[in-house]
Amino acid sequence: MTDHVIERLGHKGDGITGDGLRAALTLPGEVVSGAPENGRITDPRIVAPSPDRVRAPCAHFRSCGGCALQHASDDFVARWKAQVVETALAAQGIVAPFRPIHTSPPRTRRRATLAGRRTKKGALVGFHARRSDTIVPITECHVLHPDLLTLVPVLEEVTRLGASRNAVLGFALTRSDAGVDCAVTGGKPLDEALRLALPRFVPHFARLTWGDETVFTANPPAQRFGPAQVIPPPGAFLQATPDGEAALVAAVQEAVGEARHVADLFAGCGTFTLPLAQTAAVHAVEGAADLTEALDHATRHATGLKPITLETRDLFRRPLLPDELTRFDAVLLDPPRAGAEAQVAQIAEAGVPRIAYASCNPVTFARDAKALCEAGYRIDWVQVVDQFRWSPHVELAAQISRAHISAA
Ligand SMILES: C[S@@+](CC[C@H](N)C(=O)[O-])C[C@H]1O[C@@H](n2cnc3c(N)ncnc32)[C@H](O)[C@@H]1O
Repeated sequence: MTDHVIERLGHKGDGITGDGLRAALTLPGEVVSGAPENGRITDPRIVAPSPDRVRAPCAHFRSCGGCALQHASDDFVARWKAQVVETALAAQGIVAPFRPIHTSPPRTRRRATLAGRRTKKGALVGFHARRSDTIVPITECHVLHPDLLTLVPVLEEVTRLGASRNAVLGFALTRSDAGVDCAVTGGKPLDEALRLALPRFVPHFARLTWGDETVFTANPPAQRFGPAQVIPPPGAFLQATPDGEAALVAAVQEAVGEARHVADLFAGCGTFTLPLAQTAAVHAVEGAADLTEALDHATRHATGLKPITLETRDLFRRPLLPDELTRFDAVLLDPPRAGAEAQVAQIAEAGVPRIAYASCNPVTFARDAKALCEAGYRIDWVQVVDQFRWSPHVELAAQISRAHISAA
């Protein structure tokens, strides 16, 4: 066995040695021993631990693939997540001021996808193991809201009823004030027997969806965004924790500032649209029609808001053009991981004064920020928001302004 020194963490949270070997559950500066296999030290023994190493709070941490960083102190994780963004910006030649990270408390995740499989004895529900298809049963979880964790025995019963042999069911769970919204994928066809059996779960779910079909809606699983209530379609994108959502909404509101007319691009079902519409007219653009429809329904039932207009549009293929953008004082961008390259090019050309950018991918954020900086914008601040505690996932909000060009 050879000793190896861990130099840094990779983007999935694994330790990486100077010669590129990966070792899960290690930290920079640690000396580990183990036999490398296919570029990986599979079961590293910690010879010299990092001062940032802590005892993982969860009993499942070593096997469960849900978390990658429970062995690191909160301070380390906060510094590392900020560094991931700083490094991505530095690679594009950008230095920006950073605000302290906002991290969601444990046990507040309101959305998660669990896996379920039939076994000889009954059924197994949990997260996938690290780099494996095996399902790790979870008796405790320090990430999920307790309302989701307590559903595990119910989900096992659903698996026994609705999974074919060897199939893996996906349970996309979303907690709402009216109960848990559960969207099941990978199940048996919804035949007569299953249709008759599934309503027995009404006491446990606000809504149950099987593939594309809603089996029942016991209570509409509404989410409150600002002064309005939205009923998202099954499995819809929502921010992962209420606390992280509040931090992002506050950052975005600050970033758009006094703007009277805001374009909310990649609007989803209105997480930012509705709070922003308390002070500004908002034009919300989203690619998925079912999300726009949910937002439309909520907008019609909300009162006291400035005008909201909606558009379903593919912003990769048909970004808003400069002549459509000139009426806005601010644009909010909250794109998927691929970023907003095509849209950013149009914004840069239009010269919209203020941009609020929420991102779940520091690399595409930095690429888009570079295009804006080259067009005369500057990043005023970056706020890292950690809604995915103990995972390597990094999110952020930033305020970007067009620099004033003073006449010589
Ligand atoms: C990160 S989510 C943000 C949603 C919303 N802002 C929120 O916070 O709930 C990104 C959104 O972009 C939408 N989207 C993905 N590709 C798109 C495209 N090409 N054009 C327009 N919208 C797209 C997704 O449907 C999703 O709602």
